[in-house]
Amino acid sequence: NKTITAFAPTLDRWYQHHKRDLPWRHTRDPYRIWLSEIILQQTRVAQGRPYYERFIEAFPTVADMARADERDLLRLWQGLGYYSRARNLHKTAKYVTQELGGQFPETYASLLALKGIGTYTAAAIASFAFGERVPVVDGNVYRVLARVFGVVDDITTTRAKKLFADLATRLIAFARDPADYNQAIMEFGAIQCTPGAPDCLLCPLQQQCRAFLTGQQHKLPVKAKK
Ligand code: ADE
Ligand code: SF4
Repeated sequence: NKTITAFAPTLDRWYQHHKRDLPWRHTRDPYRIWLSEIILQQTRVAQGRPYYERFIEAFPTVADMARADERDLLRLWQGLGYYSRARNLHKTAKYVTQELGGQFPETYASLLALKGIGTYTAAAIASFAFGERVPVVDGNVYRVLARVFGVVDDITTTRAKKLFADLATRLIAFARDPADYNQAIMEFGAIQCTPGAPDCLLCPLQQQCRAFLTGQQHKLPVKAKK
């Protein structure tokens, strides 16, 4: 199916021209990637970026974070909300430093075992730091895939999550570089295929996009109200 095989190469090409210059895109240090992804979990790039820079300045390595006073960490976190994220950061930094000799696990499966690291964050670290071919799947990715492939399943269901994860795994197989591809799909969801106003008229996937071809962009993804 051409939509499947062309998807990753098209996103890769789009990304080369549209990528924003963001500090965590210049590192393969798993600590820095982990920190950036935890900050960006419920936070926009524009808001999260100065926090990332202040954290890296205060704690350049995982060992620096591990020996910090938790109150200093929480003070730096102020304004980001969800303070359990900051506490989990500290716990995991101590665990990696004290139990793993300061080395982050290097595979998706072993990263998943860390506190506060779910499927999304494990995939981000495994691909960005170690080049593992494992797809990131988050709200951006649900939206892009639901629209391009016309997936009408409710994204809050376990069945749909499995379906999206399987589709994402098939798609990343055709990517030139898994790290760039994962950054590309996140960036595409953030600035091209946005929730409220997708820029379909200037979209490189337009002629393959089920949602565009049927005028359903604003109905996808389907998310049942709780
Ligand atoms: N949001 C979450 N992760 C991101 C990343 N790596 N780049 C840009 N925005 C993001
Ligand atoms: Fe998203 Fe529109 Fe592009 Fe489809 S055509 S992928 S809805 S921006």
